[in-house]
Amino acid sequence: MAATQKAEDMREENIAAWQDPGIAEKYTRTEAATIPFANIILDKGSIVSKITQHNCAINAFDFGCGTGAVTAALYEKVPKEHWPNVKVLGGDISQPMLTYLQERGEKNGWTGLTTQIVDGANIQLAPNQFTHIFANAIIFFLPLGALSNLFELLQPGGYIGMTTWAALNWYDHVQRAVNNMANPPFFPPFEEVRAMLQHNNAWHEPSFVKQQLENAGFQNVDIVVEKRTVAVGTPEHFCESMKLPLKMFAGQWEESKRDQISKEVMEELKKVMLEVAGGEEGECYMTMEGIVGSGWKPVGK
Ligand SMILES: C[S@@+](CC[C@H](N)C(=O)[O-])C[C@H]1O[C@@H](n2cnc3c(N)ncnc32)[C@H](O)[C@@H]1O
Repeated sequence: MAATQKAEDMREENIAAWQDPGIAEKYTRTEAATIPFANIILDKGSIVSKITQHNCAINAFDFGCGTGAVTAALYEKVPKEHWPNVKVLGGDISQPMLTYLQERGEKNGWTGLTTQIVDGANIQLAPNQFTHIFANAIIFFLPLGALSNLFELLQPGGYIGMTTWAALNWYDHVQRAVNNMANPPFFPPFEEVRAMLQHNNAWHEPSFVKQQLENAGFQNVDIVVEKRTVAVGTPEHFCESMKLPLKMFAGQWEESKRDQISKEVMEELKKVMLEVAGGEEGECYMTMEGIVGSGWKPVGK
């Protein structure tokens, strides 16, 4: 299959996977893994002090917002009396995620929040409008040009904070599950899985992230690599969150056997995670190693 066709197929599979009506409910548990990095993104942009000490109004774009990890962290950090100075657009390819976030915002009184379908591969938003852009665990799903498009959306002097993964710690559990099977299906080596997830780009390397931000035009680019161990729920919850990455492997299995193999892998994975967590109600942990890149749009651009 030609590389461009494969990339296009992967893009369509990725978009389809996020349209599952139950995706937001499932993702709220996975959000535990992205929240620590949402906080780092916000701290690096000194957003709270901008609002509380300098009375600046924030007009932020939470890009690939999902269930709103960054938006929630922002409202948590900013004292309520300053909320009228906060505007956030949550943009995502997934309507179920946006509906969830909109309801979350209404419940919590985040009156500055609006949501909108945005496809990161074809962003149709007015340029020079945002003071801040947050892109937590999204950029690696997209073609390389996405960062330049985000640059255009920022006001001069605006801030971007983004996260990619330096490591994929769930891979070992899934591999162990596959190896335990009587007839293990083909399971791609780690490097191949990472390449599939990242469109063949080296988003797991801090120097690559820095280079991409600089290529897009950002200045004062800063990179931090941080590890956080997070609780991601019971073995059942962990397996649920693995359904999405598993769809990617399933593409390599014979179509007529795909559903059956996926089911068997899930059953083995559940056994592995029961052992790791010490039972049905035990907690599963993941060590997330994130690369947080941040930068600023030059004032004169
Ligand atoms: C790993 S989640 C991260 C969600 C959130 N930023 C967080 O910190 O938890 C990735 C999100 O990117 C969204 N997404 C995937 N492909 C996209 C695209 N082409 N354009 C916009 N959003 C996309 C998914 O729907 C999902 O909500």
